[in-house]
Amino acid sequence: MTTTHHFDLLIIGSGTAGLTLALKMADKARVAVLSKSQLEEGASLYAQGGISVVLDKADSLQSHIDDTLRAGGGLCDEKVVRFTVEHARESVEWLIEQGVSFTRDDMTTETYHLTQEGGHSHRRVIHSADATGRAVETTLLDKAKAHPNISLFPYHIGIDLITTRKHLATEENTCLGCYVLDIKNDQPKTFLAPVTVLATGGAGKVYLYTSNPDVSTGDGIAMGWRAGCRIANMEFIQFHPTCLFHPKAKSFLISEALRGEGATLKLADGTRFMPAFHPQAELAPRDIVARAIDHEMKRLGQDCVYLDISHQPKEFITTHFPTIYKRCLKFGVDMAKEPIPVVPAAHYTCGGIMTDMRGRTDIEGLYAIGETAHTGLHGANRMASNSLLECLVFADAAAKDIATLSKKPFPENIPHWDDSRVNPAKEAVAISHNWDELRRFMWDYVGIVRSTERLNRARQRLFLLQQEINEFYSQHHISNDLLELRNLADVAELIIESALQRKESRGLHYTLDYPEMSDTAVSNSIIAGKKPV
Ligand code: FAD
Ligand code: SIN
Repeated sequence: MTTTHHFDLLIIGSGTAGLTLALKMADKARVAVLSKSQLEEGASLYAQGGISVVLDKADSLQSHIDDTLRAGGGLCDEKVVRFTVEHARESVEWLIEQGVSFTRDDMTTETYHLTQEGGHSHRRVIHSADATGRAVETTLLDKAKAHPNISLFPYHIGIDLITTRKHLATEENTCLGCYVLDIKNDQPKTFLAPVTVLATGGAGKVYLYTSNPDVSTGDGIAMGWRAGCRIANMEFIQFHPTCLFHPKAKSFLISEALRGEGATLKLADGTRFMPAFHPQAELAPRDIVARAIDHEMKRLGQDCVYLDISHQPKEFITTHFPTIYKRCLKFGVDMAKEPIPVVPAAHYTCGGIMTDMRGRTDIEGLYAIGETAHTGLHGANRMASNSLLECLVFADAAAKDIATLSKKPFPENIPHWDDSRVNPAKEAVAISHNWDELRRFMWDYVGIVRSTERLNRARQRLFLLQQEINEFYSQHHISNDLLELRNLADVAELIIESALQRKESRGLHYTLDYPEMSDTAVSNSIIAGKKPV
């Protein structure tokens, strides 16, 4: 017999977006928060640089807006940018009220230290040393654990959304909850709620090299798409310029804040190269820095470039970047004395499920917030430290909207998950092989520099993989790895199709066949939601 849970609000994802919403709704509703791994695991935990907010007297909201629009390559929605920037201060104040401790200028002052990152024309990034995400995530999680109205479900992975169109064959489409796999007990469950929120983060794992944790497999984007949501701008995958280059340093980011504090990028012979690529040199927007590194590595046939902050005193480095300092030292690099070997890696999914400014999607009763959503804030390239901010601002906007919804009768004849016609999988090798193949061809053909030929090659390979995955899915019991693989394949399809649609180079999408930015193509790439099968 399948277990069924009923809640007022179902939030899928326990990162900054999901927990902020849960805490803002918990006094008014019974809230379930699902996480497919440990509760704290997610991109939020690893955020380093910080959160953009105008606090310095010499800075202005207009300057933050202008910088965001400039980085976004003509595709940001200006209303959304203004809304986000105007709500930054109250969002950060809310975090401080929850107990998040941000770094101050020095221990004796009330003033917060603000660092600088690429694309920002002022110091406006508030941070907790170099582990801002950990400070935010652990503080919010402690609060959520202590709230009697919040039920937390670790190791519960959302399989597919339950919608009236698919499961009750109605014309209109309303979300009723989600089928979920309880991973530890290998048991499918049904979670029902009048409001479901996708807060499942990004999809960096679709690439072989990524700064993202293992949970970032684009599940929410894939689930939303399959349920009928439109998906926008998936070609704009951000590659962070500087991840530690070491065979054993899986996914370790070297924060852009190092460049904000004077670190320079160098070739193996010590030559600085960024000034030749952009007037802002190392602090140019990320797309430009990542492409310059890629260009130099390919031109010289080198495996990495180097990031050098060794001109700063050791005490400054260990105070501002304690986590990065320790991690580099663990791999034999003393960044106070020598440059750090770095390479670009997939970092952030700018596109996602299309939402309005309240987090509403195309499906009634379904919201999307955080990295999984496309709100219009980031356009063709997200500016550094605008992402945690987006999680906070849109979780708040969604909470305010959800609180206004009136109660409607809830259907009773919702089917349970049916696995009566499938068999246990005999071997897992097909899944692990397809995971590897997918991530490798996405890196090789759909990476920092694309071409129509490379994209078509990726499309052909994906078509074959999807046939195998669908066959496997329809015949075997589900597992965490199989669900993630199916989602990664959907996300890969969305990225490839969006990239093929865009006949120009803009922001994070660069193709050798259309190297210039077009004057006429200034619109979002939108892919319609899937029809139920
Ligand atoms: P996440 O924090 O990724 O949380 C996703 C949650 O969804 C997790 O709980 C996961 O288990 C759950 N989940 C996913 N799929 C399912 C499913 N099918 N079923 C159940 N649960 C599911 N941004 C900034 O603004 N400033 C920074 O300094 C910064 N630094 C970064 C450093 C690194 C290394 C990385 C990777 C990102 C960084 N970013 C930064 C980006 C930012 O951290 C993320 O965009 C943001 O944290 C996303 O938050 P989220 O709540 O949307 O998702
Ligand atoms: C970093 O610290 O470089 C990451 C900041 C971000 O992705 O916003």
